[in-house]
Amino acid sequence: MARILVTGGAGYIGAHGCKALRAAGHEPIVFDNFRTGWRDAVKFGEMIEGDLLDLDALKAAFAQAKPEAVMHFAALSNVGESMADPELYWRNNVGGSLNLLTAMRDAGVGSIVFSSTAATYGEPDEDPITETARQAPINPYGASKLAVEKMLDDFEKAHGIRSIAFRYFNVAGADPERQVGEHHVPETHLVPNVLDSVAGARDALTINGTDYPTPDGTCIRDYVHVMDLVDAHVLGTEWLLAGKESLRLNLGTGSGFSVREVVDAASEVVGETVPMNYGPRRPGDPARLVCDGTRAREVLGWSPERSVMAQMIGDAWAWRQTGRYSR
Ligand code: UFG
Repeated sequence: MARILVTGGAGYIGAHGCKALRAAGHEPIVFDNFRTGWRDAVKFGEMIEGDLLDLDALKAAFAQAKPEAVMHFAALSNVGESMADPELYWRNNVGGSLNLLTAMRDAGVGSIVFSSTAATYGEPDEDPITETARQAPINPYGASKLAVEKMLDDFEKAHGIRSIAFRYFNVAGADPERQVGEHHVPETHLVPNVLDSVAGARDALTINGTDYPTPDGTCIRDYVHVMDLVDAHVLGTEWLLAGKESLRLNLGTGSGFSVREVVDAASEVVGETVPMNYGPRRPGDPARLVCDGTRAREVLGWSPERSVMAQMIGDAWAWRQTGRYSR
């Protein structure tokens, strides 16, 4: 049993991370400013309200929580927003992480699992993408996450803080027990947008671009079930707590689904046609992002068994029907 400080523990992935930590016998302590997170999502342990940009609050949180390791989910993660307002992303994602590492150094906490992203690869020079592919982000969001990866390297060299940076591909689905799930305001992600369209909670889905160099002309992504994703984080935390070395690992399945294929799968799962229309490309969308996830399987023994499209959509739909948070 270990005490883990979970930044962003009230957000989509962070809340699932807390559930997984608790299920594995650990004690999550959420640190969140509730800017995009939900108070209703804090269900698996203590909560400290605070902002990563407030170094004093962060130091106080370490003194209170006495964590042995950190899971660092807290970040802004909307690519379009990062293009329009880069200052927001550099300040929050990079400045916030710098404060976090400073507080870890001062508190003598030597293990951190960090949410990085496939967006650090930009337009990838490999397909599928391995961890050694060139990292050349094409938007401030990806650049901010790559900057934190480099910061982690430097803090290890100088202060011995070991880290795992997981580079996420497309996360989808929800806790099958419906305690926590995905709820963003505004929502931009494909699966919840598809389900909101079916439920009549928004206008018809717009498919962003049909002229990509893919078999059906729509973008291809590698979708991973959020419960599988957070399982990797628990394995990663235990890896670091056992004194093992820093890692950089992709989290995805190696299977690509086009936007059209996701829409078709959702129609089948829900049993209704998805109202949709076709729009132009969304700026900054690479045509195809598919992961070579061999390394996470081999090194950590990770097995993403729930990352089946019908299961991800089914769990997201079940959560949408009954579980959603209220502010
Ligand atoms: N899409 C639509 N219509 C919608 C929403 C999305 O056609 O209403 C398309 C997008 O244009 C894209 C695909 O569906 O082609 C997936 O889009 P998402 O917004 O769900 O996910 P992204 O691939 O853009 O981004 C995700 C994370 C990012 C991360 C990136 C890394 O949200 O934080 O993966 O691959 F950087």
